[in-house]
Amino acid sequence: MITTRRRFGLGMASVLAGGALPLGLSRPTVASVTENRKVLRAAPATVQLAPAEYAPTPVWSYEGSVPGPVIRARKGQTLDRRFVNDLPEPSTVHWHGIRIDNAMDGVPGLTQPVVQPGAHFDYRFTLPDAGTYWYHPHHRTWEQLARGLHGVLVVEEDGDPQYDREEILVLDDWRFDRDATLHESFGAPMDRSHAGRLGNWVTVNGQDEPSIPVKQHERLRLRLVNAATARVFNLRMKGGKAWIAALDGQALDRPKPLPDRFRFAPAQRVDLIFDILDTGEAVLAVEERGETVVLAGFPVDGVARSDPFNPPEPLPPNDLPELKASGDVLAADLVMAGGAMGQMRSAVLNGTEQSLRDIAQQGYFWAFNGVVGMTDTPLLKADLGRLVTIKMVNETNWPHAIHLHGHHFRKLGGPDGLGPWRDTELIERGETAEIAFIADNPGKWMLHCHMVDHADSGMMTWIEVG
Ligand code: C2O
Ligand code: CU
Repeated sequence: MITTRRRFGLGMASVLAGGALPLGLSRPTVASVTENRKVLRAAPATVQLAPAEYAPTPVWSYEGSVPGPVIRARKGQTLDRRFVNDLPEPSTVHWHGIRIDNAMDGVPGLTQPVVQPGAHFDYRFTLPDAGTYWYHPHHRTWEQLARGLHGVLVVEEDGDPQYDREEILVLDDWRFDRDATLHESFGAPMDRSHAGRLGNWVTVNGQDEPSIPVKQHERLRLRLVNAATARVFNLRMKGGKAWIAALDGQALDRPKPLPDRFRFAPAQRVDLIFDILDTGEAVLAVEERGETVVLAGFPVDGVARSDPFNPPEPLPPNDLPELKASGDVLAADLVMAGGAMGQMRSAVLNGTEQSLRDIAQQGYFWAFNGVVGMTDTPLLKADLGRLVTIKMVNETNWPHAIHLHGHHFRKLGGPDGLGPWRDTELIERGETAEIAFIADNPGKWMLHCHMVDHADSGMMTWIEVG
């Protein structure tokens, strides 16, 4: 039964038992675009996320859909969007993973003021790298992202694609109430101090188990985006041969087979080359509590060619800086502490050392290097072009997906000495990971957990470059 396949622990049974209620919001009329500049409008909307027997869910969305519109451009092009805020609260747009001009990074208080309801902000920046990226708010992200504000930004590489066609698959995790409205528990202390806002309904491209017809021996490129606020998916592909071709937008030197269980953290992207082999149905699935949950199907109809493929060629690489030191390496530590079942007893909040209990009463639960949340002091200041390493130590009992703005980095160690380029690294509980990057993009850049409730309750800092 399709419905039970979607159960992710919390209350899905009650959603199914609940039945549909009439909802107050109607689809907004689309503002007419009177300028040449393309508009990206955020506003309340209703979309069908739950099965058809439920009424559409009131969400916040870009351009009336969830996910928002796919923005496509070519590497090297300039992207130009007027962000129009028709939400009932301020917002901004962050272009996740783009090595962007700092003024366009969308971080309130660090790179721009918030965009008030009814106001707009013009984003204009060049796209230095091809790859799979995404955009989302950077103000009250724990609520705005959870309400549906996100979209995919595809930057196409030069040259002919070495696959038959591509599909974008945006994974999202919703916390529904009985009537498939969004549960209003945004920012709940219980979520903040534990794994974040986990949901009870998973969608792919806003749909319930979409079906993507394919042909035998067809070679697909799948651009997967994890747009969930907190859920780490344990991905599996079946019925075909899947290769990881890129992570967080950046091509691997050589595509490598997707492991049996692939940890896919919030904000990360993975580009898969998926070769359809069988005549049966291929699926995108996740492992959840020992069960395989199918998220999307690829029914096979027809034959693309008679022979299966050779292993895929690498995608064309981007021009990323070589990790070579010019002068001393700037080394910093990022020790994560706090959260439920942690060892943290106290930390600095608003300039004073406070007990965990006092910190928790103000809605905070986590610290980086003993300090809760953003302060005026950056974690580090790097001269332009400096090689920086950050040793990230997870002393908590929870996994965290740490994202650096404006740069891509590589993990030190591992079989090749250097891991793949990434902008978001999953660090499991008790784990230590050391990353390295060249601080070649001037400005003020955030470094934070992308379990966005963790970020807002303490796991946020920034670095200064140049
Ligand atoms: Cu995807 Cu600071 O964000
Ligand atoms: Cu976290």
